[in-house]
Amino acid sequence: MQKRVAEMFAGVGGFRVGLESLNSGWDTVWANQWEPGKKVQHAYDAYVAHFGESKNHSNVDINKVDKNTIPDMDMLVGGFPCQDYSVANSGATGIQGKKGVLWWDIRDVIQAKFPPFVFLENVDRLLSSPGPRQRGRDFGMILYTLQQLGYGVQWRVINAADYGFPQRRRRVFIFAYRKDTNYYGEVAKHKNLKDVVLGDNPFNKRMPIKQTLTEVHEGTIDGYDDIVDFSNEFSFKFANTGVMHDSKIFTGKYQADYSGKVITLGDIMVDHAEDESLYLDQHEGQLKKFEYLKGPKRIPRKSASGHEYVYSEGGMAFPDVPERPGRTMLTSERSVNRSTHVVRDKGNGRLRMITPLEAERLNMFPDNWTDTGMPDRFRYFTMGNALVVGVIKAIGDGIDDIISKEGELADANQFEWHGEIEPVEHTEPMDLDI
Ligand SMILES: C[S@@+](CC[C@H](N)C(=O)[O-])C[C@H]1O[C@@H](n2cnc3c(N)ncnc32)[C@H](O)[C@@H]1O
Repeated sequence: MQKRVAEMFAGVGGFRVGLESLNSGWDTVWANQWEPGKKVQHAYDAYVAHFGESKNHSNVDINKVDKNTIPDMDMLVGGFPCQDYSVANSGATGIQGKKGVLWWDIRDVIQAKFPPFVFLENVDRLLSSPGPRQRGRDFGMILYTLQQLGYGVQWRVINAADYGFPQRRRRVFIFAYRKDTNYYGEVAKHKNLKDVVLGDNPFNKRMPIKQTLTEVHEGTIDGYDDIVDFSNEFSFKFANTGVMHDSKIFTGKYQADYSGKVITLGDIMVDHAEDESLYLDQHEGQLKKFEYLKGPKRIPRKSASGHEYVYSEGGMAFPDVPERPGRTMLTSERSVNRSTHVVRDKGNGRLRMITPLEAERLNMFPDNWTDTGMPDRFRYFTMGNALVVGVIKAIGDGIDDIISKEGELADANQFEWHGEIEPVEHTEPMDLDI
């Protein structure tokens, strides 16, 4: 089987860097990246700086891409935002999803190209979204549409630091496989879906888990009249790992089983940062601001409806502890913000923010990956959007094993899927208020 990859929402190329670092033949044949509303496209420019100009690197809104023009691929990859995936029936125009919701573009690519494998990343909140009023609906919608397209699905929430990587970044990774793959057949042989979670799957190879699952919960995505009924009614408590096979869902809460090497914030820090503007003592009042932001607080507040309440948050380590992995990096890294890292410089002991190079190292990108001409602010921004490359490499290694057991798979254009796929419009210039 070939290993052609298409990378959606490519950012600065985290999936590509991770897969290519395996040296196992992954070949990115198409990539799309577009930062909405920005004239200068820093992430895309960095992508091109590393991977070259190509007619198959596209810098347009994915919604505007004719999905049939995308080259054939064996795996589709991408990290996409958690949004509202509900749909509604709007009469003459048929079933509609909200405009600008990127899941529907992923779905369109799958439907146009039918890649044998799909590998996606999202924030862990996806599993409970949109929250208590209909917990699990949005992830359920992803499972429902993948089932309609003819795929089995496994997911796992992984905190990179649980496996020795240098950042406490928790994300959900989703692996889907077409019904005609050998792997789908292997999954089908299991009498119990729990064994799929605990057994041979792409997550367990390099990131093993303890054999006891808690909060086990089973269910189905079947039994709904149509996708609109599903959108209105489905609710499910998804735990941090699970599988959907032939409409059945199995989920449970796992614990990482790792006792290997650990990379800490201190390990990835430079010996000394030259840039004086990073130091808190160079900006009047900055130390005090950080002390306040990071400290514990109880603030009386009033909600829009006039309800009075006390907002409280605990204190956090200040400065950040070098003996532990870094915290989750956000796109706002280096702004005066509670979540920004503040470290003690190894050379002079003064408090400072992290350097762009340190931000790259927290994500395990090669040094100076974003030093491609973009302002520093965007070097942090693109890293806040990116992922821990080591996790992609680890899962990619597991996918390599699966692919080594596949025979010649039908190309998308030969794969015929006869299941029912309900069309969902999502390009109409209207936002549904559901
Ligand atoms: C979560 S980030 C993924 C980052 C990537 N995995 C990396 O390693 O850098 C999502 C990316 O999708 C891009 N994006 C957002 N809306 C888009 C759209 N309509 N079309 C194409 N790309 C979009 C953002 O600019 C951002 O870079």
